[in-house]
Amino acid sequence: MDKLLISGGNPIDGTIRISGAKNAALPILAATLLTDEPVTLRNLPHLNDITTMIELLVCMGVEVLINEDMSVQINAGTLKDCTAPYSLVKTMRASILVLGPLLAHFGEANVSLPGGCAIGSRPVDLHIRGMEALGGQITMEDGYIKARSNGRLKAADYFFDMVSVTGTENVLMAAVLADGVSVIENSAREPEVVDLAHCLVAMGAQIEGIGTDTMRVTGVEKLHGCDHKVLPDRIEAGTYLVAGAISGGRVHLKDVDPKTMDSVLVKLRECGAEIITTDNSIVLDMHGKRPKAVNITTAPYPAFPTDMQAQFTVLNAVAEGTGTVEETIFENRFMHIQELHRMGADCTIKGNTVVIKGVPKLHAAPVMATDLRASASLVLAALVAEGDTLVDRIYHIDRGYECIEEKLQLLGATIKRVAGKG
Ligand code: UD1
Repeated sequence: MDKLLISGGNPIDGTIRISGAKNAALPILAATLLTDEPVTLRNLPHLNDITTMIELLVCMGVEVLINEDMSVQINAGTLKDCTAPYSLVKTMRASILVLGPLLAHFGEANVSLPGGCAIGSRPVDLHIRGMEALGGQITMEDGYIKARSNGRLKAADYFFDMVSVTGTENVLMAAVLADGVSVIENSAREPEVVDLAHCLVAMGAQIEGIGTDTMRVTGVEKLHGCDHKVLPDRIEAGTYLVAGAISGGRVHLKDVDPKTMDSVLVKLRECGAEIITTDNSIVLDMHGKRPKAVNITTAPYPAFPTDMQAQFTVLNAVAEGTGTVEETIFENRFMHIQELHRMGADCTIKGNTVVIKGVPKLHAAPVMATDLRASASLVLAALVAEGDTLVDRIYHIDRGYECIEEKLQLLGATIKRVAGKG
């Protein structure tokens, strides 16, 4: 198993390009199942999760071509089998995103139930109830969700009793081909949901209220192919900005969308960063200062993202003063805290809140990644720790950060990938 070896303490200063958003690319790849025509996707990040989703499409019989310009052309017209097998779903929960498109387009879906997950129980009940509301018949057999529809799905009003990102995406993808007008209430407003909706509209879907908590979808009989460029990854961008903030450094991000990052940029300014944005770039400059501690509470968009929580815990760990991080979306998302303790951080967990007293310096220690964003936080901590930190189980990082060591090297870090023995 590969590990990352990081020598802390280098000044962070440089320019990097932000990749396409994983969490937009995944539902958009699933959306290609809604048409028999080829869909061309651009700016897909090179990540293990994307490869897994493509593998899932291929194992159903979908044709995937990589063009010379690195865009990917996907043709679901060749689909042979509506099954998402356990072997792939267990490696990536987001495989559940094929449920809505398969059911809506082919009247059939067999999707393995995702197994346990490091960051809480993460059920899929809202997805299933959404399919039922649209007229799908759902049974559970041998660990699989079996969904069937007699003819077209029927439009419905569906209220999410909890905001769910992939739940909204699944119901939206099913509703675009349903017969009649569906209203999706308390829907997620994340930029990735918006990007999916824009792709669906480019495929011929009729959706009003994109970016709001109520989407009105007029079902159409057929969708067609399109050409779509995936939006930039706001979580990747935020992670590199925190690298600048904790090191007193300067980070220039290109190909980024600052409009999707307000809640994170507000907190970075509050911690003392100077931030200058254009339509597609961000420059963060700490002018050599140590950050000041900030309090954050995670909540659905446009509030502070849970996927940036662990990174801000590290920011508070080296900041001046005491900050709190309250997690309201997931249970059990503080797995990184134990590892940060080993690097000298002063954190106390109280229920769903961590109280972090900033220390002047962290020190290197061997640490282990537990989930995607927790792993990123350990890499950040290692960048400013005294000594050489070895981060184990980095396959989590590879699920969500394209070329992390190359990008951090461009920012001035000393980081290398070492092959582990297991
Ligand atoms: C997505 C993101 C993930 C992010 C999360 C919250 C993708 C691929 N992943 O995950 O990176 O951290 O949004 O912004 O886009 N819930 C239920 N029943 C359901 C579905 C969800 O109770 O059927 C609960 C979850 O356990 C959680 C909350 O709803 O407590 C929100 O989860 P949700 O928005 O669905 O997260 P994901 O879509 O899985």
